[in-house]
Amino acid sequence: MKLSSEQNKFVDDLLSKMTLEEKVGQLNQESPSIVGGFDVPFEELIEMLTDGRISQEEFGKIMATATRDYHEDDIRAGKVSSFLDSDPRKINELQKIAVEETRLGIPLIIGFDVIHGLRSVYPIAIAEAGSFDDKLMEKTARMAAKESRAHGICWNFAPMIDVARDSRWGRVSEGPGEDPFLGSRFARAKIKGLQNGCDEGEDYVAACTKHYVAYSACEAGRDYNTTSMSISQLYNVYLPPFKAAMEEGACSAMASFNDLNGVPCTVNSYTLRDILKGEYGLEGFVVSDANGIKECVTHGMAEDDIDAGVKAMNAGLDMDMGTHIYYDHMVQAVKDGKVSMDTLDEAVRRILGVKVWLGLFDNPYVDEAVIAAYEKEVPKEHMELCLRAAEESIVLLKNEGDILPLKRDTKFSLVGELADRADEVVGAWSLGWKKEECVSVKEGLKAAGAAFDYYPVCGPESKINEEELKAAISSDNDLVIAVVGEYKSMSGEASSRADITLPGQQRRMLKELKEAGKTVIAVLMNGRPLALGWEKEIIPAIIEGWHLGIQMGTAIAEVIFGEVNPSGKLSSTFSSVNGQEPLYYNHPNTGRPGSKSKFTSRYLDAPVEPCFPFGYGLSYTSFEYSDLKLTETSDEIVAEFTLKNTGNLEGTEVAQLYMQDVCGSLVRPVKELKNYARINLAAGEVKEVTLSLKKSDMGFYDNQGKYVFESGLFRIYVGGNSRDTLVEEIIV
Ligand code: BGC
Repeated sequence: MKLSSEQNKFVDDLLSKMTLEEKVGQLNQESPSIVGGFDVPFEELIEMLTDGRISQEEFGKIMATATRDYHEDDIRAGKVSSFLDSDPRKINELQKIAVEETRLGIPLIIGFDVIHGLRSVYPIAIAEAGSFDDKLMEKTARMAAKESRAHGICWNFAPMIDVARDSRWGRVSEGPGEDPFLGSRFARAKIKGLQNGCDEGEDYVAACTKHYVAYSACEAGRDYNTTSMSISQLYNVYLPPFKAAMEEGACSAMASFNDLNGVPCTVNSYTLRDILKGEYGLEGFVVSDANGIKECVTHGMAEDDIDAGVKAMNAGLDMDMGTHIYYDHMVQAVKDGKVSMDTLDEAVRRILGVKVWLGLFDNPYVDEAVIAAYEKEVPKEHMELCLRAAEESIVLLKNEGDILPLKRDTKFSLVGELADRADEVVGAWSLGWKKEECVSVKEGLKAAGAAFDYYPVCGPESKINEEELKAAISSDNDLVIAVVGEYKSMSGEASSRADITLPGQQRRMLKELKEAGKTVIAVLMNGRPLALGWEKEIIPAIIEGWHLGIQMGTAIAEVIFGEVNPSGKLSSTFSSVNGQEPLYYNHPNTGRPGSKSKFTSRYLDAPVEPCFPFGYGLSYTSFEYSDLKLTETSDEIVAEFTLKNTGNLEGTEVAQLYMQDVCGSLVRPVKELKNYARINLAAGEVKEVTLSLKKSDMGFYDNQGKYVFESGLFRIYVGGNSRDTLVEEIIV
């Protein structure tokens, strides 16, 4: 985001005309309050949804008819800057009040959680990052920006770029996995996709990078829990995607709920003012997470709401989501000298700047004709892109004896309640989809002409239906495709799980089928890396299908029948058992690396190795790496190697380059991803591949947050995952 001098002048002029009250109004975000329209209090309704007394669908129906307060009078009084909503007609109405009925006619900035698509939902981020396809990630973001803008949403609370190392944390689903380098490339692609339309005269939105910062490092993987770490770890692991996003000109950031080393990120001037706005040069603004300012009182960081508001404002938190604390107290705080006018002006200038950059002063409304077109159907090219993203995100984890792909006339049994759940394919944080546009695995297989009998048997939470299990066992079909995993509500916000094995009785279902002599292919549908030690031993073929979005069923069927050769890789390590978490590949070395000897860093009752390592994923063909050679130029290390497709099918390999700084002034990770490329090879084809590593990427941050490069011995690895690699050494 860059403003021209004219745009800056416009902002300054506007600011000079504003009263104190109008300025404070610009710091306030509202959302519709549910005020009635159903028989029980809203809180109880949420409880009912949480404990399963009503389904998501029933909840949705009730919500659709609920009465809402849109705070029109507050908008009219200039007390609202931003609104959180997605109903385009309502947005037009609210915008009209802001533009035509307030003294200065400042438009609202409409924000919404469009995390992985609005109507055209594509794979959850942890899955899409596994495509290692930056162009694809950019394109899906561009599509989301288009659909958002068409619905009046001009500020997406995305990308979520929390590097997540603990799979118990439910929000791993929303982000690009465990690696800061992949996370940074993902962040760049998403910012380009969401925002660059501005330069190209297309629909675009302001991105909101989140959750700033280190939210994913919550202790024990429990959402909202405390985080503490060294400055070096903060800079090397959690900050890089935010730095990358800021370099691409991201318009805003959302302060996270957690405290970091004792200071909640909402009131943390070190992370907000010094790093984000100072070092990284954020030009736009920072919004709190929902209710974040008030929670500083609960954290015990502020005495009361006023204190929390003053601390947040002085720390550089510009917009209040959800608490009204700025709105209620900031005028007085400025009058009392607790917040300076300069501080207030800076926040307002940042917010107005984004509104100007979005073109809202010239064009605040949604085109009703565009809405009507979307209401009819999703554009065909959006459906196609969702399908491509789903295809590229699927990871083949196991394929013993090349059971897959299946011949199209193979008769099989399909089991698992999830197979028939079109409403579950979209995953967590998906809010604008239509069920009739979602393809379940069962529907996808049917459309592909598959011959199967379906037995739901059980889902992630339901008990085994013994009759259905018996029927599946006694069926003549020797082959079973079992769709197992998690509901979408089992990942995402407030959805941490202490046990990350397959939930409910799904394992028992697989076991009984296996013991009955069936050949079982597992298709996983999940929002987090699961602990799959048992499944890896027992099940001959495993497809990681994540929550792939509206085209999930079509993509899974294509992979099952070999129309698409899987090419996705894991963006996160998979554990064998729960107790290994947090487990990630780029861990610092210990003085006693885990081995078979007793006094090493290991478990008595579990392996130290992952079940499936970061970067892992099979293909229906096979690839061979050889002849790694390193050369040094003035600013790069160039790795050249030979990649051969040794199988009988065309395929795409994600070739990965890792580095190890063997000895440093701080203990360095055993491996760090530093580059990757998707390479397509015909059967038998050989390619000479070059992946380079910039010297400027070979250093690390010390405990003062200073980037240092230390010359010495480096190991460079290339391979198809973080474990199985070639290695060469070089002194740099
Ligand atoms: C979440 C954010 C989200 C916000 C607004 C919060 O609860 O943590 O990720 O953007 O709600 O919906």
